Amino acid sequence: MDVSSPFSLPRTVALVGLMGAGKSAIGKRLAARLDLPFVDADDEIEHAAGCTIEEFFEKYGEADFRAGERRVIARLLDEPPRVLSTGGGAYMDAETRALMRAKALTVWLRADLDVLYDRVRRRTHRPLLRQGDPKEILGRLMTQRYPIYAEADIVVDSTAQPVDRTTEQVVDALRAHLQSRPSGAPQ
Ligand code: S3P
Repeated sequence: MDVSSPFSLPRTVALVGLMGAGKSAIGKRLAARLDLPFVDADDEIEHAAGCTIEEFFEKYGEADFRAGERRVIARLLDEPPRVLSTGGGAYMDAETRALMRAKALTVWLRADLDVLYDRVRRRTHRPLLRQGDPKEILGRLMTQRYPIYAEADIVVDSTAQPVDRTTEQVVDALRAHLQSRPSGAPQ
């Protein structure tokens, strides 16, 4: 196989990871690289709800947000293969996770605390990070979530290196994964 050539994806690639892991930035580049549509689950939730995620959390709370997120991701996973960026908590929901495991190829963008904090600290739109010290919250979420994110099919480190380079590492990891599992389904 020509290592630089794109390849066809048997299922949607779903990017998971904490806020600031680079899911949207890498997702957009990955989609362009694989010549596939890109969709951001958070944008779709905002579109369906007619308000921002921030407003949604304020009006209805996190439990209702997770229910909406579950419905939106279920719908997106029934559509043809694409690159899907999911919000940081999506894979933590048992039902959403089971659906993603069944229908998508999941890629965890793993990042360390300094990288995450550096990427989120200037942006204030994330409700969970406004509930206290953002770095401390990210650290706590890492402890809670990393063992679960680790169940993803593929793990790629998202570091401070240029996003294009990390995107190429995701492409390489997908290619290697699909060579041993052409259907993309977990073994
Ligand atoms: C959340 C992450 C956010 C968004 C919401 C909740 C989380 O998405 O879905 O604020 O629980 O980690 P990003 O990871 O894209 O910032």
